[in-house]
Amino acid sequence: MNRIDPKTLGKVAVLFGGTSAEREISILSGTGVLEALRARGVDAQAFDPAGRDLAELQRDGIARCFVALHGRHGEDGTVQGALELLGIPYTGSGVMASSVAMDKVMTKRIWQADGLPTPKYVRLAFDQQSREQVMAVPDVLGLPLIVKPPREGSSIGVTKVEGYSQMQDAVALSAKYDADVLCEEFIEGQEVTCAVLGSGLDARALPVVRIAAPEGAYDYQNKYFTDDVKYHCPSGLPEAEERAIQQITLAAYRTLGCRGWGRADLMIRASDRKPFLLEMNTSPGMTTHSLVPMSARAAGIAYEDLCLQVLASAALDSGRHA
Ligand SMILES: Nc1ncnc2c1ncn2[C@@H]1O[C@H](COP(=O)(O)OP(=O)(O)O)[C@@H](O)[C@H]1O
Ligand SMILES: [Mg+2]
Repeated sequence: MNRIDPKTLGKVAVLFGGTSAEREISILSGTGVLEALRARGVDAQAFDPAGRDLAELQRDGIARCFVALHGRHGEDGTVQGALELLGIPYTGSGVMASSVAMDKVMTKRIWQADGLPTPKYVRLAFDQQSREQVMAVPDVLGLPLIVKPPREGSSIGVTKVEGYSQMQDAVALSAKYDADVLCEEFIEGQEVTCAVLGSGLDARALPVVRIAAPEGAYDYQNKYFTDDVKYHCPSGLPEAEERAIQQITLAAYRTLGCRGWGRADLMIRASDRKPFLLEMNTSPGMTTHSLVPMSARAAGIAYEDLCLQVLASAALDSGRHA
């Protein structure tokens, strides 16, 4: 990596907080990023779009934004669109890649069209959730299966369904967060996540992180607030598997048109070691304990340098860089 001179980056706003269900995590991410950028000599300030008008960024002479928002109105293309209109370069994916990646069904359609592996699924649109339609899903996907809201994150509203009797509750829970519901074949195996840094031909995958969660620990509480989940990086996977995960992740990132940085979640099926893509996160967690920073550290990139590198990649869809 070329040395980045913080003084050339101008006045920076770190966007965090926001109004999504992931506000709490975003505040942790943004606070970490802000401190790191300041520690590296960047003229950075906090900006919470929940309480302020984005147009203030322009009035305040902000040269670029670090988007540390998660979820809706943060990583779904809306804030990105607003920044496009204001002409302020921002970190991470542009409008289309952000909004496609926010929707797990849209993402899967693109991956499938490109021959990338992702679990079989059934989408139950808001008007396709009669008892009969819900009960027909296990016939198609088998059991167990996963029920989740397609446009939520942080494992919110996710259920592992073991039997027909759980189907309706699982759909009702998911529908609290998103009217449409995504049902997915359950992949029994190891969970991994793989980060990408860079854009276009310069994009490269970071070391894979292996996640070891106790059986059934898919919920928000477990993921963020307990010590039950263990993260391993280096992953300890065989070299060829590590490479394969990185290649699939890069292909998944490129086909969605992602830029700057991102992180794919995958499952490796225990029976045949085949990897399956679950989703692409275009504004991943960025606390000092988050997975992208963990993976970057394994690649020799300190947290502060990671923040600086992501910031330096801020751009606009029109191709104009800061
Ligand atoms: N098809 C699946 N098979 C097995 N586990 C899954 C599947 N889909 C989701 N999970 C589990 O649920 C978690 C959350 O799902 P994910 O698709 O990554 O959504 P998000 O992180 O946005 O909530 C995953 O990290 C994984 O542990
Ligand atoms: Mg995930």
